[in-house]
Amino acid sequence: MQRDQIRNLISILDLSVDEIDSLIRVANDIDQNPEKYAECCRHKQLATLFFEPSTRTRLSFESAMLSLGGSVLGFSSANSSSAAKGESVSDTVRTVGNYADIIAMRHPKEGAPMIASRHTTVPIINAGDGGHYHPTQTLTDLLTISRKKGRLSNMTIGLCGDLKFGRTVHSLIEATLRYEGIRYILISPEELRLPEYMIEELTKAGAEFQEVTDLEAAMPELDILYMTRIQKERFFNEEDYLRLKDIYILTPDKLANAKADLSILHPLPRVNEISVKVDEDPRACYFYQTLCGKQIRMALILFLLGLTPKD
Ligand code: CP
Repeated sequence: MQRDQIRNLISILDLSVDEIDSLIRVANDIDQNPEKYAECCRHKQLATLFFEPSTRTRLSFESAMLSLGGSVLGFSSANSSSAAKGESVSDTVRTVGNYADIIAMRHPKEGAPMIASRHTTVPIINAGDGGHYHPTQTLTDLLTISRKKGRLSNMTIGLCGDLKFGRTVHSLIEATLRYEGIRYILISPEELRLPEYMIEELTKAGAEFQEVTDLEAAMPELDILYMTRIQKERFFNEEDYLRLKDIYILTPDKLANAKADLSILHPLPRVNEISVKVDEDPRACYFYQTLCGKQIRMALILFLLGLTPKD
């Protein structure tokens, strides 16, 4: 296939709202009728090229492809690939494009998956690039929200924690800005505020948003609470990380004034920011989110490969 005919997923904005709605419909059908999809990717191969650690994203991609009847290959760290010998991302994907039909790639450098997409003729999926974007986490979050709320519009979303380096936050805001009636409460310490370019996007879109530091004060207003980890690996010095790492810890008592139908999301992994005591609260959705992650990635693989189940 010609390079300009390939669909990649580098940013969530590479998908229209209609396409996202369609992926959600397919993921819901996969949930109800998994057997219908069991052979869809027979003889297809997914390569997972992970230059950074991952549990959920890599394993859910691999599980998704296996559940579609395809197979997987790849590596889980830069050290076990020829990147350790100095190979460029473009040479790596040019090579892997000869072995796989689709590539999911995570890289610590912002923009690396976009560069990769210019050097291969198979679809590239950005599985997280530095502190930039994580579009398949956003698809996961949208599927979770749509299932829990029955809608993707008209709600107040509280985003709490590391809004500076948290790439899942950036992608989720970009996605939800396209739905009506979304109000944002951005809860972070001054040092970890949402980057200026994202504030500009919110302002340009005319979105209603406020920046605050107090999680408990914001709690009663929230329909969605999106907790995030303080991103240790992106800090320039340990001292700052240690000072900020436990700044928000969600405990059952802090939910006393929350709505009864609040949904608590977290892309995971969690460190300290949600007490394990919250896990039993019916409003905690973060492990359910990991199931949604597999199902929406199944739908995405089918979409990017142009495949549909045989009825
Ligand atoms: N949510 C997420 O990206 O998790 P992993 O880092 O485990 O893939």
